[in-house]
Amino acid sequence: MSDSKARTASRLPTTIDTSVAHEARVYDYWLGGRDNYPADRALGDAIAAHVPAIREMARANRAFLARAVRFAIAELGVTQFLDIGTGIPTAGNTHEIAQRIDPAARVVYVDNDPIVLAHARALMASTDEGATAFVHADLHDPAAILAEPVLTETLDLDRPVALMLVAVLMYFRDEDDPHGILARLLDALPSGSCLVITHPTADFDARAMKNVVLASEQAGITFYPRSRAETENLFAGTEILDPGVVPVVTWRPDLADDAAATTATDPESAWYWAGIGRKP
Ligand SMILES: C[S@@+](CC[C@H](N)C(=O)[O-])C[C@H]1O[C@@H](n2cnc3c(N)ncnc32)[C@H](O)[C@@H]1O
Repeated sequence: MSDSKARTASRLPTTIDTSVAHEARVYDYWLGGRDNYPADRALGDAIAAHVPAIREMARANRAFLARAVRFAIAELGVTQFLDIGTGIPTAGNTHEIAQRIDPAARVVYVDNDPIVLAHARALMASTDEGATAFVHADLHDPAAILAEPVLTETLDLDRPVALMLVAVLMYFRDEDDPHGILARLLDALPSGSCLVITHPTADFDARAMKNVVLASEQAGITFYPRSRAETENLFAGTEILDPGVVPVVTWRPDLADDAAATTATDPESAWYWAGIGRKP
C-alpha cells in the first residue's frame, strides 16, 4: 500500500470545536469509535434513550455501504466512487472495500467536518494502482465540490461514478434543496453512473423519531427523516434498481461479507430506507 497519490483539499474552517455535538462524532460514538467528546456522547445517549437499538442501526447502515460498493463494482462495473458525507474513518472504508475487489478503484471522499479532515490520511492509504483523495467541502455547495481540482485529478468524469450519499441527506430540509444538489452532481456524471442513498425515516416509529429530531435540534443539528416516497423522490433522474428503496437490512443481504452469518432479517430492525439508482 502507498499513499503517494493521496491528495487533500480544504477551503472550509478547520478548527475543531469539541464543546458542541457534531454529527460525525456522534455517529463515531455509536459505532464504538474513539473520536468523540462529552457533547457528542451526551447527544448520542439522548438519542439512544429514544431509540435503544441506534448502535445496531448505525452498524446496519454501515454494512449496507459495504454491500453497495461491492454491488457497484461486481454488478454495474463502476469502479470510481464519490463518497460525500464520509464520516470519521472506521472499519471498512469505501476505498478499502473497493480496492480489495479492484485495486485500481478510485475514490474521492467529501466531508465538511474538520475532524474528518484531521483523519483524512487514514482515508487515503491507496493501492498503487488506484487513487484516493479527500475534499473538505460542504454538500450545500455542489459546484465547489465539482470544481475541486483533486476531484477531477482523481476521478475520470467521462467514466461512470458511484455517487454515495449514505446517511447524510437527513441534514438537509427540503428548503435546503437536496433535489437540486443531487441533480447538479448527477449532471456532472456520465450515463451508467449510480446514486447510492440511505435515509433515516419516521415510517417505523413516528414518536421515537420525533424525539430524535427534537434532541438533535436542541443540540443545534438539523435532522429531517424522510418517508419511503420522499426517499424515492431523491432518486429523480435515475432508474431505481432492484430491490427498490427498501429497509436497509433487506437491501441485497446476499452481498454481505459473510452472507451466511447475516442474522438481521427483521426489516424494521434499522430505521433507514436504502436504495441504488442508475443514471440512464
Ligand atoms: C452519519 S455520518 C455518515 C457517515 C458514512 N456516510 C456512513 O454512512 O457510514 C454523516 C456524515 O456527513 C457529514 N456531513 C454532514 N453534513 C454535511 C455537509 N453539509 N457536507 C458534507 N458532509 C456533511 C458529517 O460530517 C458526517 O461525517
